[in-house]
Amino acid sequence: MTIQTAIWRISIEQQCGGELDADQPLQEAARLLGNGAVVAFPTETVYGLGADARNSEAVARIFAAKGRPSDNPLIVHIADKQQLEELVLPYPALAVRLMDAFWPGPLTIVLPVQAGKLSKLVTAGLDTVGIRIPDHPAALSLIRQAGCPVAAPSANRSGKPSPTTAEHVKADLAGRIDGIVDCGSTGVGLESTVVELVTPHTIRILRPGGITEEQIRLVAGDAFIESALTVSEPNCEQNCDEAPRSPGMKYAHYAPDGQMQLVDGTAANVAVYINKAVAAARGNGQRTAVLAFDEHLDQFDADVSASLGSIQRLEQGANRLYAALRYFDQEGVEQIWSECCVRSGIGEALMNRMMKAAGNNKIYV
Ligand code: TXA
Ligand code: MG
Repeated sequence: MTIQTAIWRISIEQQCGGELDADQPLQEAARLLGNGAVVAFPTETVYGLGADARNSEAVARIFAAKGRPSDNPLIVHIADKQQLEELVLPYPALAVRLMDAFWPGPLTIVLPVQAGKLSKLVTAGLDTVGIRIPDHPAALSLIRQAGCPVAAPSANRSGKPSPTTAEHVKADLAGRIDGIVDCGSTGVGLESTVVELVTPHTIRILRPGGITEEQIRLVAGDAFIESALTVSEPNCEQNCDEAPRSPGMKYAHYAPDGQMQLVDGTAANVAVYINKAVAAARGNGQRTAVLAFDEHLDQFDADVSASLGSIQRLEQGANRLYAALRYFDQEGVEQIWSECCVRSGIGEALMNRMMKAAGNNKIYV
C-alpha cells in the first residue's frame, strides 16, 4: 500500500532558544508522531525513522517500512533524563558517567528495561533497551513535543546505507511512511556508538560509532573496556532461538549495489593495485568506482570517484561515506575499490562500516 509522505522543511537557523518549538511544520510532525504516525527526522548521526515506542501498531510500521527483521531491536530516543527514569531499572554509576559525558550525543547505552513500559517490538524480546538523547535541536524539539519516547532505527530500507539527507530517506521510504522532517545534512554521518555495561565496571562496545573508544576511555576511569567485535559470540546465523547480545551484528549492512573491495597498504601500492583492477574490470565492460582520500584521489582513474575528505580529518570520511555509496548506486557502478584508514578515533567506526559495505572483502597489497 502506498501512502502520502509529507515533507516538513525546517530551517536549522531557527535552532537557538525555544524558537524551534514554535515552528509549525515541526509541531505538525510532532502531533502526528504522538498519534501513532511513522515520521523520519534528522539526528546528529543519521536520519532516524521514528514512532511512539509504547505503541506496538506504530512500531510495527517501522519494521514494515524498512523491511527490517523483527529480532533486531530499536534504539529509543528521549529528550531528557527524566524520561529515562520512567523506562529503565536502576543502573550502575558508570552509566551515569557516560550519560553525563556524552548526552546529548552519539552514544547509545543498553540498560535494563522496566517491564511493560515499551512495546515488546522495540526490545525484540530482550530484557534491555538501547537509549540515547540525540544532539540535534529538531530531534529534541520533536521528541519533547510528541510527548513520548521515540523508537527510531536509521531511516533506510534494511541493508542499504543509512541516510544522511532527507533526499536519501525519500529515495528509500517515500510512499511507505507518514512524513519526513527535512533539516539538511546530518553532521557525524555514521550511527551512534552502542555500549552495554556487562558488569558495573565493564563497558562492552557493541558497535563503534560517533563517540570513539578513546573518548569513552577518558571518562571510564579504571573500568574495563572491551569490544564485542573481539569477544566470541555464539554463532546465531543458524538455529538461534535466542536473540544474540547485539542483534544488529549478524545482519549484512550498508551494502551498495556494486561489489566493493577495500585495499590496504602503502599509498603507492594501493594505487597500482586499484588501477590494474579498474582496467581489468573495464575490459570486462564493467562500470567502476574508486573511494579515496583527497591526498590520493588524483592517482586513480575510474569511471566514477568520490572523496572521503582528508586522510588527516577522518570525521570528513565519516560524514561522506554513506552519500558516496548511494552516489555509486545511482551511477550504476558494478565494481568499487576503496582506500583504508587507521582504526583509531572515528577511523574505527569508518573502517567498521566500510568493511560491512564490502562484505569484509579486504586485501593487503
Ligand atoms: O545513530 C544512531 O544510532 C541511529 C540514529 C537514528 O539514532 N540509529 C540507528 O539505529 O543506527 P539502528 O536500528 O539502525 O541500529 C541500532 C543498533 C542495532 O545494531 C541493534 O542491534 C542495536 O543497536 N541494539 C538496539 N537495542 C539493543 C539492545 N537492547 N541490546 C543490544 N543491541 C541493541
Ligand atoms: Mg541501521
